Amino acid sequence: MAQLWGGRFTKATDQLVYDFNASINFDKRLFHQDIEGSIAHVVMLAKQGILTVEEKDAIVKGLTGIREDVDSERLKISNEYEDIHSFVEANLIQRIGDAGKKLHTGRSRNDQVALDMRLYTRQQVLLTDELLKELLEVILYTMEQNVETYMPGFTHLQKAQPITLAHHYGAYFEMFKRDRQRLFDIFRRMNYCPLGAGALAGTTYPLDRNYTASLLGFEGPTLNSIDSVADRDYLIEFLAALSTIMMHLSRFSEEIIIWNSNEYQFVEIDDAYSTGSSIMPQKKNPDIAELVRGKTGRVYGALMSLLTTMKGLPLAYNKDMQEDKEMAFDAMDTVKDCLVLFTGMLRTMKFRKDRMERSAMNGFTNATDAADYLVGKGVPFRDAHGIIGRLVLYCIEKDTSIDALSLEELQAISDKFGPDIYDAVFLKTCVEKRLTVGAPGPEAMKKVIEKHREYLAQESITLPEEEKK
Ligand code: ARG
Repeated sequence: MAQLWGGRFTKATDQLVYDFNASINFDKRLFHQDIEGSIAHVVMLAKQGILTVEEKDAIVKGLTGIREDVDSERLKISNEYEDIHSFVEANLIQRIGDAGKKLHTGRSRNDQVALDMRLYTRQQVLLTDELLKELLEVILYTMEQNVETYMPGFTHLQKAQPITLAHHYGAYFEMFKRDRQRLFDIFRRMNYCPLGAGALAGTTYPLDRNYTASLLGFEGPTLNSIDSVADRDYLIEFLAALSTIMMHLSRFSEEIIIWNSNEYQFVEIDDAYSTGSSIMPQKKNPDIAELVRGKTGRVYGALMSLLTTMKGLPLAYNKDMQEDKEMAFDAMDTVKDCLVLFTGMLRTMKFRKDRMERSAMNGFTNATDAADYLVGKGVPFRDAHGIIGRLVLYCIEKDTSIDALSLEELQAISDKFGPDIYDAVFLKTCVEKRLTVGAPGPEAMKKVIEKHREYLAQESITLPEEEKK
């Protein structure tokens, strides 16, 4: 047992209590952030004359030494310490003696952990954003290649109207673009430095919080010391954004699983992203898509868990808040893994364009266009809808499609049909004529694709170089 406190205690902590209370097992992830925050803190303390330059130099050297030793695995972060903050401080004191005992001047573990977690989360926001951008690149490339790849569009998983693959993928482009915008918003809102809030009420030392904030790449310091140590909104927002990303990935996965099924065969998932069955030799299963869909639950779980942890907490810090870490870390890892694998699966997936087009040609996806044709001949839409409904019924009975009927058969149902009906219900015409903004018509689609290209050429959110580690 190694802890930073004990002076006011007459007995040692019970071992079970110590183990239950300790967080080093999971907060060791915050090691780099803890060192970085401590360096900024002492640099500021020296600038303010609270520590001497010699003390600051000794501490910075000690902290960088610890970082090097841990990075090169000469030093192991061991579980004998209560948390990562205790590990760093104890090691520092071992290395440099008394100067090390001054590191924690004007600081509490409450603002320290608030800073570490914020630094860690901020970096995860950026990493997630980069992965989303790579996914968008793959989606956009597929869109560019498939402006004239026809497929049925669905509602209720029933064939509805013909669209293109570019158009369908375009829907996902919008979703993942919004996901990036959410991350950007979160980044901007969270990028304020809680260090200097102390335990909850600031400190009596003349800290320069603006300076610490700028050293750590923040916009500025947080403005209420109680909120600084009690706030986990940024993490909840991030978990909500991660949950939404997973919801999008899960819907996309579901579609790929359907498209990859024996009945559809719209796509073929690459062998490298498929798995076999231990008993059925013919099987090639879409496990990656299924796992992405499945892992969505645990990310939602992390969000629900933290919301619930926070809901009854009085101000300011409470130990409950230590529970902000494990599931959040798991959610961050899960989403990054899912994005990497999903993007790889998408990049290597093959489309069976012939089957997609054939599927769009049957199932009466052109029925709306046939009704619109009659509208063009002066029939009110509601009447046209009724006529085409009867026409579809006739086709179902004869097991045929609208475009395969003879003009006599068509005219038997409505004398408004003329020979130009065949062009009007031709699959490609049906798509080409849909030219409103956001519609699948290739000319409309190309304009949207151009906007997407410009969007992806823009700078992502970034931090000053040394903050990226
Ligand atoms: N391990 C703690 C956490 O993760 C660090 C803060 C401890 N502060 C305290 N007053 N016990 O929240």
